Amino acid sequence: MNAERLIEKKRDGGVLTDEEIRALIEGYTAGRVPDYQMAAWCMAVYFKGLTARETAALTRAMADSGPRADLSSIPGVKVDKHSTGGVGDTVTLITAPIAAAAGVPIAKLSGRSLGFTGGTVDKLSAIPGYRTALSFEEFVGQVRRCGIAMAGQSADLAPADAKLYALRDATGTVESLPLIASSVMSKKIASGADAVVLDVKCGRGAFMKEERQAAALMEEMTALGRAAGLRVIAFVTDMNVPLGMAIGNSVEVDEAVEVLMGRGGRRLTTLALTIAGAMICAGEKAETLAEGRSMAEEMIRSGRALAKFKECVAAQGGDTSWIGVRPLTEETYAHTVRAARSGYVEDIRPVELARLVMDMGGGRATKDDEIDLSVGLRLWKEPGEAVTEGEPLMTLYGREDLPMEALGRRAAEMVEIGPEQNVFPLVYRMADSRDE
Ligand code: URA
Ligand code: CA
Repeated sequence: MNAERLIEKKRDGGVLTDEEIRALIEGYTAGRVPDYQMAAWCMAVYFKGLTARETAALTRAMADSGPRADLSSIPGVKVDKHSTGGVGDTVTLITAPIAAAAGVPIAKLSGRSLGFTGGTVDKLSAIPGYRTALSFEEFVGQVRRCGIAMAGQSADLAPADAKLYALRDATGTVESLPLIASSVMSKKIASGADAVVLDVKCGRGAFMKEERQAAALMEEMTALGRAAGLRVIAFVTDMNVPLGMAIGNSVEVDEAVEVLMGRGGRRLTTLALTIAGAMICAGEKAETLAEGRSMAEEMIRSGRALAKFKECVAAQGGDTSWIGVRPLTEETYAHTVRAARSGYVEDIRPVELARLVMDMGGGRATKDDEIDLSVGLRLWKEPGEAVTEGEPLMTLYGREDLPMEALGRRAAEMVEIGPEQNVFPLVYRMADSRDE
């Protein structure tokens, strides 16, 4: 295989064979193809795209670049869930225990946060004692015992994707539909689940800004799943405004617990019930999405979802004494921003708020950065809600050394209050790999 020829072929709009794509990925994983050639190939793909067949070959090659997780010793239909990344997206922490409480085995491997998007592993790490690094035997054993485990993705699942994603992140080639689709689906195939529920984010706080692009990504990933024998239920959901009302690691855990207790915000609760319902349906514990959703509601109402969350935290060594009793987040350096006028919340800018939390130390600019899990912010009003002058709009949770007043002024600029009661959509589309 000559990498230079494959770069030129793609640059000139050619179509690579399955063998060529596999050789390129194998060569890159083994270190025979250097980063600069792989980066050039990704840029060619960015401009020329990949055919459906090329995308499928790339996905298979990346899924096969390391061992596949073998979950066959766990009885039942194993369901995974994946979001393409957003702001205030605490859905995994909520839906995994809901679906597990409904009897769907959940073997959840998650990533760390990068840039302004959060990562489930960092959120879980905010719980004192919680072990996110489990050996594969511990992980499978816990799913068999408790019906749920939530741990960090180990490096050996789809190693080609891990290496390629870091390269793309540094070379302006993340925002390519076939590269995103193959990246996500290679990990899902390698992680060994039987079914996956995908949440494709769409809007100014997401990779996909336009509904049309997001829908195309959803269709592509659904087709890749179908080709790999994986049941996929996928949604395109809104990321023009934050999904939940918490941004930051510890505060997002608090918000997840509130939703599990039936006291969460409207947008996050609604989407979590939809996704959890789809997971229950994909796990064959419900016949239809509607039935799955009402089961999800029942898991919250009965307290079984919260109990399952507690059981999972305890099994992974985490402190559970605070759950349902008090917030995890310390209030010592909290600063509350009040509404400067009365009206409706007309807009909340997700990326700018997430950047603010990053600047407070709560996010990673590069993959090796240390982050402060305790900093964050909570909004007290949802998009479209009425607000009265002087009412608390949001609270920032900081540290002694942070300029909280100045941060508060900056945060206030990201929430617009005005006379219009705008409507904020939540779910745009869905797809099911069973519907051809
Ligand atoms: N998430 C992934 O896992 N891969 C991408 O390429 C983009 C988002
Ligand atoms: Ca980048």
